[in-house]
Amino acid sequence: MDTIEALMTTRAIRRFRPDPVSEADLWTCLKAAQQAPSGGNVQPVQYIVVRDAESRGVIGGLYRDAYARYSKVLGAPQSFRSPEDEASWRRTRDASDYLGEHLAEVPVLVLFLQPIIAWGTADAEGPLDIGRLDASVYPAVQNFMLAARSLGLGTALTTVIRISTAAALEALGVPSPEKWEIAALVPVGYPVGHFGEARRKPVAAVTHFDRWGNRQK
Ligand SMILES: Cc1cc2nc3c(=O)[nH]c(=O)nc-3n(C[C@H](O)[C@H](O)[C@H](O)COP(=O)(O)O)c2cc1C
Repeated sequence: MDTIEALMTTRAIRRFRPDPVSEADLWTCLKAAQQAPSGGNVQPVQYIVVRDAESRGVIGGLYRDAYARYSKVLGAPQSFRSPEDEASWRRTRDASDYLGEHLAEVPVLVLFLQPIIAWGTADAEGPLDIGRLDASVYPAVQNFMLAARSLGLGTALTTVIRISTAAALEALGVPSPEKWEIAALVPVGYPVGHFGEARRKPVAAVTHFDRWGNRQK
């Protein structure tokens, strides 16, 4: 499908059909992820593709517990910019609650692991900030999700599993789990609903030309 259409309609999908995801489609998404840029071409990501029902059950249980802790302390915004924004917030919360309860039923769960390593460098004047290692991981996650979208597969970038990182890495048999963190857990499957363009702030409201504050009329 057209690239711009694919990325404009890639949004968080949290309700999935049980239909299986083909091996060929998974490889296409993984290859797209691996093609992403990374600082110094370090390519830091390891992917764990979880398909068997037992492992999905374990990860799903950890996600449910992590999400329950998170949602308990997650307040609602004091006010909304518009009734549409409020409705959108409620839909997102309901869908997130649903995924919290049903992650184990999603056909494929892909975990993006990044190593815990010293990153950056220094010269005689001190440390040189070249950005965090995360900046070399999330492009791969987004590439994966865009490729999935172009194949008709839904995804959502999720991170609350990080609350249960140690247990998740152990359950997945990661050696030296203290040397890894989970950058993202992405459920993959065919969506129950439809893809569509999600609500965002108008781009003109957040874009500055040449100097801060110069807006395009
Ligand atoms: C860094 C990051 C972490 C996220 N973590 C979660 C999560 O743990 N669970 C979840 O259901 N959604 C998670 N999301 C999805 C966001 O809620 C979603 O991208 C956002 O609400 C926009 O959704 P939309 O594209 O459908 O409008 C996360 C997104 C990002 C970028």
